Amino acid sequence: MKVLVIGNGGREHAIVWKLAHDSCAPELFCAPGNAGTAALATNVPIGAEDVAGIVAWAREAKPDLVVVGPEAPLCAGVTDALEAEGIKVFGPCQAAAALEGSKAFSKDVMEKAGVPTARFRVYRSSAEAIAGLDAFSLPVVVKADGLAAGKGVVIAQTREEAETALREMLDGGRFGAAGAEVVVEEFLEGEEASVFALCDGERVELLPAAQDHKRVFDNDQGPNTGGMGAYTPAPIATAEVMAFTKEQIVLPVLRELKRRGITYKGVLFCGLMIGPKGVNVLEFNCRFGDPETEVVLPSVASDLLPVLLACSEGRLESGMVKMRPEAAVTVVMAAPGYPGSYPKGLAISGLDAAEAAGCTVFHAGTALREGQVVTAGGRVLTVTAFGADLRAAVAKAYEGVGQIAFEGAHYRRDIAAKAFKYLK
Ligand code: AMP
Ligand code: GLY
Repeated sequence: MKVLVIGNGGREHAIVWKLAHDSCAPELFCAPGNAGTAALATNVPIGAEDVAGIVAWAREAKPDLVVVGPEAPLCAGVTDALEAEGIKVFGPCQAAAALEGSKAFSKDVMEKAGVPTARFRVYRSSAEAIAGLDAFSLPVVVKADGLAAGKGVVIAQTREEAETALREMLDGGRFGAAGAEVVVEEFLEGEEASVFALCDGERVELLPAAQDHKRVFDNDQGPNTGGMGAYTPAPIATAEVMAFTKEQIVLPVLRELKRRGITYKGVLFCGLMIGPKGVNVLEFNCRFGDPETEVVLPSVASDLLPVLLACSEGRLESGMVKMRPEAAVTVVMAAPGYPGSYPKGLAISGLDAAEAAGCTVFHAGTALREGQVVTAGGRVLTVTAFGADLRAAVAKAYEGVGQIAFEGAHYRRDIAAKAFKYLK
């Protein structure tokens, strides 16, 4: 079997790593990949957003499956383009990926499907949006409709902040076309969880919930990042929450899309807020989360390729996905300055020592320079470890982190600490 994975982050390294451990030993390619994927797959020098380049490569190489990591190519229609060539894809078609690509569309689907989510309004004019703020209490959440690389959400503590965000997006072109429409919504209290729902268009299998850590510093301080660490299973997502997510969120959304003539195949990432107002959907993503994937996929005990193929072919079966019993934790090591500007090309040492300590190191932003692994991104590495429980997994992950060095490396010291209160 020949598989192409699209993307170049920690998520894609984890997908490649998991597929490399499958019993059928598939021949793996990664476009464009990084220094981590290069050890397990053939990196193909085609950008993740180069849809035409990916299709041209696939037409020649005829992979048995293409697994799409990031949202941009999905929202640009890479699945539609590949399927038109008769190539199987894990990842939704463009119309289905709009659940992530357009927050207004996503909110409309949720409303029609009866899925619990923050109360909202959609606006194209700043004057109307500002007048509409009267209907919300503070804080209030302002979201650019389209893809904004995780920066399109403003939690406004004051009315002035909300008005400024609305004017910047709707009049100032702050996010370009992505901000030409905005969603204004109620702020929800609670704790977040990420649930990956594997979907074949009709049937759904949930993977155990994970929790991300968005802020750069300990105790959720400092600016937002792409995610500084994750753990699974997340005890906040009880069996009851998981059943609710499947029956009252994912299945109704798939049915509502079907009613509109849209088939959702791939992973539907449910960003949940669990709190005094119960379980609400903050957002949907049309792909695996990063860094959640770096704990959730290594926790899958069964082979991955048969499951991804079953999703793409509309024949997912319950019980196909078996999980390992342990807890898993991943700690992101970031470049100095991240999430602001940061240098590249810093030499990394200690990768083998971290593996020898029992960790798996996924490369998020690395490159090979004359045989030396160097930094090439803001999130550089993510160090994953298992343990009999979360505390043991945390201890092992930090043991691995302690082996690795590059100039100015920084990481959070409190990954998974929020979960300890639920443990015996
Ligand atoms: P989103 O891209 O919609 O997930 O938003 C990014 C982050 O903003 C989420 O992970 C939450 O931390 C926060 N957020 C978004 N919407 C809300 C909301 N309605 N209430 C509280 N926090 C929110
Ligand atoms: N970890 C959040 C995301 O992938 O969007």
